[in-house]
Amino acid sequence: MSDQEYVRIENVSKTFYVKNNRIDALKDINLTIAKDEIVSIVGASGCGKSTLLRLICGLEREYEGALSINGHKLNGPSRGVGVVFQEHRLLPWLTVEQNIYLAVNHLPKSEKKELVAKYLELVDLPGTENFFPHQLSGGMAQRVAIARALVSNPRILLLDEPLGALDALTRKNMQKEILQIWEKDKITMIMVTHDIDEAIFLGSRVIVMTSRPGTIKRDITVPPSMAKDYTDPEFIRLRNEIYHEFSL
Ligand SMILES: Nc1ncnc2c1ncn2[C@@H]1O[C@H](COP(=O)(O)OP(=O)(O)O)[C@@H](O)[C@H]1O
Ligand SMILES: [Mg+2]
Repeated sequence: MSDQEYVRIENVSKTFYVKNNRIDALKDINLTIAKDEIVSIVGASGCGKSTLLRLICGLEREYEGALSINGHKLNGPSRGVGVVFQEHRLLPWLTVEQNIYLAVNHLPKSEKKELVAKYLELVDLPGTENFFPHQLSGGMAQRVAIARALVSNPRILLLDEPLGALDALTRKNMQKEILQIWEKDKITMIMVTHDIDEAIFLGSRVIVMTSRPGTIKRDITVPPSMAKDYTDPEFIRLRNEIYHEFSL
């Protein structure tokens, strides 16, 4: 299996049944993602973005079509896939360190301690081991959630609107940090967002989805030479192009 097709999604459809209602959440999704690529997925609320991520991390086992990672058909939840959600989901009665330990519980304590220090450093929060979640700002808590997702050394990191609850300035800083983490700790990332700027800033490609049923409308490559600058004319042109896809 080539690294170009590290994540392979073929003709995937997902239907939910709620009482007598049929909800076509995803229809005929075809998508391949290369190893160590960051792909952004944008689309309106309810278009099936979270459902697609749940399929990729093996949480949703009933679907049509085929899904594979590194040539292996997906078969249930995988240790090799880390997930970060919009809410940090840290346990409030545990410290930062104890929350991260949960992801690597099987390792000896000394090794766990070392890993926690390494990943807190990576997300720019050194020395916060003994803080409790309520003592962290929203951005800090979300960085801990990212550290917790990365500590088990996943092959793929799925991010489901992880910055959605943050204020605009923190959000912009976190976008830069995610990009830095990706540069330091090369990993395949799939980032769901409804923020077009964020999608362009982070992604090497931006996948635009339609709603009901969720399908892929466009797969837009972000020119690698393009400046990661929201005011750059090429950035603005791409933003307008993607915005236009939404408004049609
Ligand atoms: N467990 C579920 N049971 C029934 N319907 C669901 C379930 N999960 C998602 N859906 C429906 O599938 C559609 C896509 O949802 P979701 O993937 O959460 O969208 P998004 O993340 O893009 O906002 C929505 O119509 C939602 O109501
Ligand atoms: Mg969602």
